[in-house]
Amino acid sequence: MHSKTDPFATRKLFGRKIGRRLGVKRQELFDTLFPRIDIKEILKTKEAPVHPNDLFEKPHKEIHIEIGFGDGDMLRQAHVQNRDIGYIGCEPFMNGVCNLLTAIKENDLSNIRLWQDDALVLLTQLEENSVDRLYIMNPDPWPKKRHYKRRVVRPETLDLFAKILKKDALLIMTTDVDDLAEWMVTQASNHPNFDWQANCQADWQTPPKGWTQTKYEKKGIAAGRVQTYLIFKRQ
Ligand SMILES: C[S@@+](CC[C@H](N)C(=O)[O-])C[C@H]1O[C@@H](n2cnc3c(N)ncnc32)[C@H](O)[C@@H]1O
Repeated sequence: MHSKTDPFATRKLFGRKIGRRLGVKRQELFDTLFPRIDIKEILKTKEAPVHPNDLFEKPHKEIHIEIGFGDGDMLRQAHVQNRDIGYIGCEPFMNGVCNLLTAIKENDLSNIRLWQDDALVLLTQLEENSVDRLYIMNPDPWPKKRHYKRRVVRPETLDLFAKILKKDALLIMTTDVDDLAEWMVTQASNHPNFDWQANCQADWQTPPKGWTQTKYEKKGIAAGRVQTYLIFKRQ
């Protein structure tokens, strides 16, 4: 699946993959529903690099990927509202995946696919210039300086995002941690392929139109923190 020179191939995933044991019903849902939309299963029959449209039964007008979807608050609504967009959700934490599966189990799942692992590993398998939008909402802040290299947004991951995103595609990142907001703005603004779309403070303090608040966003707002919405365009 990976080339030996691929920097993400042997990457250690930081954070939880398994939490509380799943109850019988949730385990059953995971065992029956997840394999139908599990990208790992689909990739077994494909050669990398893969065009993300090939992960679905039919091609979609656009491909949107979310890294670290948590409970999948955005995906559960968006895939119903925008049937012509193919959504790829990445989340290693099994309980989060189950929460999303529970929410979408009655839906038409032809435009949603899931990767229950490190998103960066999946992104290395995708064709260049093939993705229309990348969402990273409230990534883990890793506040200690010696842990900055664990942050999902950093120079080498931005290289990877730039590679798979199409020209004019959007990279949307949010956080309510000031230090992380500053870090993400700095890293992405310093990258030659990303252009920050904000002109004034209101632009990064106002959610984009039709925005769905995530669990972490709601938690932060309830605690009095201010969410920052950072929108960059792939040049
Ligand atoms: C702080 S939570 C935010 C969840 C959700 N986006 C929200 O706003 O409610 C960060 C999530 O990113 C996931 N995560 C961390 N590293 C990841 C990686 N390399 N690939 C995919 N997901 C990752 C974690 O498992 C966790 O669920």
